[in-house]
Amino acid sequence: MAYEVKGVVARSKGAPVTIETILVPDPGPGEAVVDIAACGVCHTDLHYREGGINDDYPFLLGHEAAGTVAAVGEGVTNVAVGDYVVLNWRAVCGQCRACLKGEPKYCFATHNAAQKMTLADGTELSPALGIGAFAEKTLVHSGQCTKVDPAAPPASAGLLGCGVMAGVGAAINTGAVQRGESVAVFGCGGVGDAAIAGAKLAGATTIIAVDISDTKLEWARNFGATHTVNSKETDPVEAIKALTDGNGCDVAIDAVGHPAVFEQAFYARDLAGRVVMVGVPTPGMEITLPATEVFGRGGSIKSSWYGDCLPSRDFPMLVDLYLQGRFDLDAFVSETIGLGDVEEAFEKMHKGEVLRSVVVFDK
Ligand SMILES: NC(=O)c1ccc[n+]([C@@H]2O[C@H](COP(=O)([O-])OP(=O)(O)OC[C@H]3O[C@@H](n4cnc5c(N)ncnc54)[C@H](O)[C@@H]3O)[C@@H](O)[C@H]2O)c1
Ligand SMILES: [Zn+2]
Ligand SMILES: [Zn+2]
Repeated sequence: MAYEVKGVVARSKGAPVTIETILVPDPGPGEAVVDIAACGVCHTDLHYREGGINDDYPFLLGHEAAGTVAAVGEGVTNVAVGDYVVLNWRAVCGQCRACLKGEPKYCFATHNAAQKMTLADGTELSPALGIGAFAEKTLVHSGQCTKVDPAAPPASAGLLGCGVMAGVGAAINTGAVQRGESVAVFGCGGVGDAAIAGAKLAGATTIIAVDISDTKLEWARNFGATHTVNSKETDPVEAIKALTDGNGCDVAIDAVGHPAVFEQAFYARDLAGRVVMVGVPTPGMEITLPATEVFGRGGSIKSSWYGDCLPSRDFPMLVDLYLQGRFDLDAFVSETIGLGDVEEAFEKMHKGEVLRSVVVFDK
């Protein structure tokens, strides 16, 4: 028998989200139903609402969530009812070309629930990133549930499920930041600030935050930025060179997802430096660079899906660092809100007033 719960749905391109009754089926083989305790509002949810990801409306939004396993289907062994989990969108298959090459972080066939959640009239929903957690319960593949220490509160721990992991991983996994290196992070939202925190964890000694908002730059200092540049007022490439002996930074991270920002990141790094694109561009955006610069500068240009993380390895590690006071997950939570406040939270995100608004479900 299906569960009947409330969830936040984007019905059509650009239209405000609405709260709808959602039917969540009992878990089938390999699936789990999770009672959501908290779910953060990520810019990617807004991309979905605006048609920037694909056109598979209606979307059940929300994907940065923590909760408790409520039911499991046949054959599920990695989690049990009552387990405290953070949901992930990289349940690796173990069998695709990437997995077989020992590179599961690139898994090309990640698992999602096979069954569909629906609206009350039977319309099938597309859950954001295969999760759909702005809902009291959601259906996922059991591999999307990563057990973590329940001592970490859900509003903070849930953020590891997407933006914070993407940012931290962009620095420590994709960018492979080393002790003593210089790092510039463009865009200091939840993802960018997590990249700053990741660079600090990895031991970077010069961490330059770039944004167009002074408030965001102020907050970035709390996560470990040693210098800040307002790129509306100052040319960030020149400013970053000035802060790195004229050379440019070792690692430049674009956490905005805009060609103009990517170009700044490209030119702001040192010869043989690494450029990491973790911000998500929208369809139609194009990057044009002189080929001689791409060749001549050497180094690497990499995109960072989900911070090249492995949830089973990285979520428990970051929760442990959090519980030891070495990684401040709480600082990403600007406010906790109710399920009915997601549209307003998009507005606040758009205006740059918050890092993360987090929907909390009162149990
Ligand atoms: N790669 C991944 O796996 C992954 C995961 C989660 C989110 N994302 C993407 O990362 C990006 C950031 O997400 P977020 O949740 O932090 O968003 P956000 O809206 O909270 O933050 C974006 C920040 O960029 C700043 N900004 C905007 N234009 C700028 C410019 N021209 N120069 C410098 N700064 C600028 C804004 O002031 C803001 O502080 C989005 O594109 C999101 O979709 C990627
Ligand atoms: Zn795979
Ligand atoms: Zn996200």
